[in-house]
Amino acid sequence: MSVVEVNGPSPYQVRIGAAVSRGLADLTVGSRVALIHPASVEFMAGPLRESLDRVFDIEVPDAEAAKTATVLAGCWDRLAAEGMTRGDVVVGLGGGATTDLAGFVAATWMRGVTLIQVPTTVLGMADAAVGGKTGINISAGKNLVGAFHEPKAVLCDTDALAHLPLREMRSGMAEIVKCGFINDPRILSIVENDPVAVLDPASDAFHEVLTRAVQVKASVVAADLTESTSRGTDVGRERLNYGHTLAHAIEAHEHFTWRHGEADAVGMIFAAELSARELGLDRQVVDRTREIMAGLGLLTTFEGTEWAKLRATMNLDKKTRGTMLRFVGISAPGHVTMIEGPDEHELEECFATLAPVVD
Ligand code: GLY
Repeated sequence: MSVVEVNGPSPYQVRIGAAVSRGLADLTVGSRVALIHPASVEFMAGPLRESLDRVFDIEVPDAEAAKTATVLAGCWDRLAAEGMTRGDVVVGLGGGATTDLAGFVAATWMRGVTLIQVPTTVLGMADAAVGGKTGINISAGKNLVGAFHEPKAVLCDTDALAHLPLREMRSGMAEIVKCGFINDPRILSIVENDPVAVLDPASDAFHEVLTRAVQVKASVVAADLTESTSRGTDVGRERLNYGHTLAHAIEAHEHFTWRHGEADAVGMIFAAELSARELGLDRQVVDRTREIMAGLGLLTTFEGTEWAKLRATMNLDKKTRGTMLRFVGISAPGHVTMIEGPDEHELEECFATLAPVVD
């Protein structure tokens, strides 16, 4: 087992390893637990329920369908019906959407109760469940309603990943690779050394890159929980958005049929191309970005929606200030700089490099 400390305003631990969810009983002793989860993770929920003295389930839909005002209100109604008090604990068990919802339930019930996250996907472990961002979607956009509410603990039980489809493993691995590019280049060499092993959740290589990614996330959010610092090379939590500006536009235009990490793999190639033009990033790192993504079986090209549509969607990116687009860039792996208001022709040129090569 590895333990990563998140030393922000309310310090907590992220425990990573096989069977770590068994620690939930000790963490919740003396409290009732509202266990929020989709039916698809019943294989984890069942044993957890049996290990707890006082627990009730709140079953929610899978994936983004959980992050609605209707589901949220249903959770509040259940907490009220069960007589949930301030001394009780909300547990989010599932992927990133479930832990985002459960976090927002905990943030809002009686103005805030204890939250423990038990993520069951790589994306949830490496990103969503750590760092206190919680929220739901509304028709105007994703994550537009939410709160910062830090958990008391995060239990990344790698046993939960045993049945995760390869597509989900790959998508989650893209977010781990992102942590390599922004803070910890050692992640990149481990992935390059054995891209097959890192996709096996039982391997030492996977354990190491996941732990390193969580360490990156922990140090970033501890320094800038509310995403309020970023200027030039002093980039706070916004650095976690490397590749995301294009990725979010692709996700929207593909009607969320792409996994987040799949879109971010293409988004990171775009960000590397832009970094080469704006920050002098070595072309070898741009090529390396493509090779790492391809080695993991992720797409490295994008065809479909024309540039003008994606560009318009990017105006809604939450990093945009007024009409000025802002991108997270790197001058070298581990060295992040904000790129503010890049040249429009340059952006289109970077997009053109994503076109599939026709023989
Ligand atoms: N997923 C980006 C963040 O937590 O800030």
